[in-house]
Amino acid sequence: MLQKLKNKIKTMHIIKNYRKIYPYVRPYLFRALIAMLITIPIGAMDAVIAWVLKPYMDVVMIDKNMNSSILFPALIIVFSLTQSLLNYAATYLNTWVGTKITMDIKRTLFRKLMRSDPSFFDRTSSGDIVFKFNQAADIACGGLLNNLKMFTTRIFSSLSLICVLLWNSWQLSIIALTVLFGALFPLTQLRRKLKDIMKGTVFSGAKIISHYTEAFSGNRVVSSFNLYNYQSDRFSETLHQMFKLIMRMTKKMGFLTPMMHFMVSLGIAGVIWLGSYLISSGQLTAGGFVSFITALLMLYHPIKTIGNNVKSIYMSFTMMDMVFGIIEKIPTIRSKPNAILLEDIKQNIIFENVCFEYEAKRPVLNNINFTVQRGEVVALVGNSGGGKTTIASLLSRFYDVKSGAIKIDGIDIRDLELDSLRDKIAVVFQDNILFAGTIRENILLGKKDATEAEIKQALHNACLDEFISTLPQGLETQIGERGIKLSGGQRQRVAIARAFIKNAPIVILDEATSSLDNKSEEIVQQAIYNLMKDRTVFIIAHRLSTVRNANKIIVVNRGVIAEIGTHDELIQKEGSIYASLYRTQIV
Ligand SMILES: Nc1ncnc2c1ncn2[C@@H]1O[C@H](COP(=O)(O)OP(=O)(O)OP(=O)(O)O)[C@@H](O)[C@H]1O
Ligand SMILES: [Mg+2]
Repeated sequence: MLQKLKNKIKTMHIIKNYRKIYPYVRPYLFRALIAMLITIPIGAMDAVIAWVLKPYMDVVMIDKNMNSSILFPALIIVFSLTQSLLNYAATYLNTWVGTKITMDIKRTLFRKLMRSDPSFFDRTSSGDIVFKFNQAADIACGGLLNNLKMFTTRIFSSLSLICVLLWNSWQLSIIALTVLFGALFPLTQLRRKLKDIMKGTVFSGAKIISHYTEAFSGNRVVSSFNLYNYQSDRFSETLHQMFKLIMRMTKKMGFLTPMMHFMVSLGIAGVIWLGSYLISSGQLTAGGFVSFITALLMLYHPIKTIGNNVKSIYMSFTMMDMVFGIIEKIPTIRSKPNAILLEDIKQNIIFENVCFEYEAKRPVLNNINFTVQRGEVVALVGNSGGGKTTIASLLSRFYDVKSGAIKIDGIDIRDLELDSLRDKIAVVFQDNILFAGTIRENILLGKKDATEAEIKQALHNACLDEFISTLPQGLETQIGERGIKLSGGQRQRVAIARAFIKNAPIVILDEATSSLDNKSEEIVQQAIYNLMKDRTVFIIAHRLSTVRNANKIIVVNRGVIAEIGTHDELIQKEGSIYASLYRTQIV
């Protein structure tokens, strides 16, 4: 029974959330506690005004004792002043603590985002990410902290006001408190009803952000296809969905304020009715009655507007669920507890019966088997959508194989320490992403502590030196978000330089020279072959002239290996796919 109760308490929402947020509060516990403690006098002082009215009425108004008339206003001024100063301090401290906590949570979320599986990014829209990793944290913490101050103040204010009520008349208090708890009860039932609507709001909120990011990244497509109306209509549709959700929420919550207002009036009516009787029968003084009514009005006042606060608190709970859901999620692609550090590659890389699918029941790779010796250059060629990029992604463990294994020197890459594996692989992606910043910063991403000489060498190998020398600011030229100020080929060469400078034993070049002119391609090709000494290189290319010299050419066709061999072997082979592809490209 006790255990059951304990479990029930554990699963209670508020407790669950506070347990999770506690590690984030702990570093600032002292200030957080002070901020909480300050709210006690702030709340309690509310009652002083109501309380003081009784002696004021009875002594000054009824007994006409003017000696005390100056005392009461003075008391009120002193108390209000103290209350205002404390309020300022509480707001300052709360904001300080709250912002620090939000920052820490956002930092954790961002680290989590960086470490997320690539498949997470396949499934998640940009709007979702902005919303869940940024806005949700703001709403979760902001809502909670603002409301926390208000709540603790209100709780202490309510407690002290209830004392004033009881002090004046227990009979009237019974009526007042019955009405109060009767009014609050429906609130406890609301959260369940609102859950779906709140989730929907998140979904629509994320979708709205996605529209903006799409408008940003797709602006050229929108202009060239005249998609203004089409995009605006889609945006309107999402706005309309949001509108419907807000109205559904209002339908469920909007009755609260008017209902509270009505209930409160009932309470006041009841109190006046019974109060008049108590006064006339001499059980209550006029001062006591005024003091009681004032305390009651102060107690009831916040309840009238409680609807909005409840909404924001439930919203912040929903967001907090989401935020902690993300934080607690463990990525599937990670190092095992006793993972082996990959120092270098000594012998070979083996793909053993590798099968893979991005989505369940839609196989992309089937039984891929091949071995690459250290220092070899393998080329992956074949039709578009065949699975070449996928094979390369599996080696970097962007995804894990469905069955079979990839082994480096006989060790399954899933047993290797993930960072050490990725450290050993330099990739030039098919669609290269550069970051906002200078060319130098982008190249240094490959190796943060590269020397000037290393940078120079990488620029030379990537055939970039000539281009850089034409820029007034040289390596310090800003390239814009995603490298937008560079041409396609220039972007590709910066990416090649970034991969070269990494100086990794395994190199993957996915269509790395596809956007280069013939002369640059030749230079880069030469650099690749120069650098390949002692390196294991995977070249993916549609232009077969670039793979002629590879030690091994693998033709991937619809997720299976159709042919393996050297250029000469495959050219001579009867009915070879490679040979026919090669011939069509030559003419
Ligand atoms: N992130 C993904 N999620 C789901 N399916 C994917 C994903 N990436 C690729 N695919 C699918 O996997 C298959 C293989 O794609 P992959 O990119 O490996 O082909 P490829 O051989 O590199 O083609 P290309 O020469 O056009 O670059 C394709 O059918 C593609 O639709
Ligand atoms: Mg590809």
